[in-house]
Order: sequence, then structure tokens, then C-alpha cells
Amino acid sequence: MSDLIASRLRDVPDFPRTGVVFKDITPLLGDGDAFGEVVRALAARHTQGESRVDVVAGVEARGFIIGAALAHELGVGFVPVRKAGKLPGETVQSTYDLEYGSATIEVHVDAVTPGQRVLLVDDVLATGGTAIAAWDLLTRCGADVVELTTIVELAFLDGRAAMGERAVHALHVVG
Ligand code: PRP
Ligand code: HPA
Repeated sequence: MSDLIASRLRDVPDFPRTGVVFKDITPLLGDGDAFGEVVRALAARHTQGESRVDVVAGVEARGFIIGAALAHELGVGFVPVRKAGKLPGETVQSTYDLEYGSATIEVHVDAVTPGQRVLLVDDVLATGGTAIAAWDLLTRCGADVVELTTIVELAFLDGRAAMGERAVHALHVVG
């Protein structure tokens, strides 16, 4: 699986700003067989017993692509964690730093019910800023977040360490 993902990633130097080598997942998304394999591999960890989840949460925008497919594969619902100003209902929000800037995300306060087991998904774990913010927002809403699952982990940015006690899974680790 790791080799398959590596073969479908594209390095884009100096995007979105000078000095960042951006790992682009669009070649992977564009390959139906590879995309399907990735989604099934992410789902396989959560199909049985205590590893089952009640809902999948994904972070806008790329986390929506993976998260909706994963939720469908698992037969559960999807919770969107959105960039600020997009959700119409009452929200909680958090601002955090990225490898290349900062962002504010938010989630509907009633998006999860207390104690619901939530699988958080994103395409890439980099510094961990996004995942920590999303995890903690969902927790504030009462969720029991069981894991952050990702396609790619950029290990040189130390996101896993920043995540602390929060469980992390990645199909492909770079660096
Ligand atoms: C990217 C990526 C993750 C996040 C990872 O999203 O999809 O959500 O950065 O970085 P971090 O671990 O340092 O937080 P981005 O904010 O670029 O938004 P996009 O999905 O809308 O492109
Ligand atoms: N690729 C995709 N998403 C990212 C990256 C990257 O290199 N760095 C931070 N988020």
C-alpha cells in the first residue's frame, strides 16, 4: 500500500510558497483503482468489534474527499469540519498554524452526540495543527475521537509528536 501511494504522489516544489515541497495527492485521487484501495485500507481498521466507529469526520477540503468515501465504505455518517464562516448552525471554532500559514476551522456543536465514536480523517498529517484543532473541537462537542487516520504523514514536520496522546495512523510515511 505504501509503495502504491508513493507512486501516485507528486512533489511540487515551492507550492504554495517558496521552500515548501508540496505532496500532491491528485494523481492518487484520479486513479480509481488506487483511490478505492486506499479507502478500503483505511476502512479495514474500523470494521470489527471495538475498532468500529459511529461516524467519520473530515477536514475541509481534502479531508472531505477522503472522508466522504470512507464514511460510505464504513456505512456511517459524515461530519464536516469546515473552514470558518461556512457552516450555518451554531459552531465551535479553533485557529491554528499550518506549514504554510494559519487557518480557522469550525464544527456544528450538535454534529455529534455525546460519547459517539468518531474517526477523524485527513489526506495529509504535516505539523498536526489541523488534526489537533479538529480533534479538540470534536471532543468539545462530546465526541470520543478514536483515531486520526491519514493517507500521508510528513514525518519531518513532527505532527505525530505534536498529536501527543491522540492516536495516529498513516498509510504512507514520508521522511
Ligand atoms: C492541508 C491538508 C491538511 C493540513 C495538514 O490542508 O489537507 O488538512 O493541511 O497540515 P498540518 O498537519 O500542518 O495542519 P490545507 O489547510 O492546505 O487545506 P485544503 O485541504 O483546503 O487544501
Ligand atoms: N501536501 C499536502 N498537504 C500538506 C502538505 C503537503 O506537502 N503540507 C501541509 N499540508
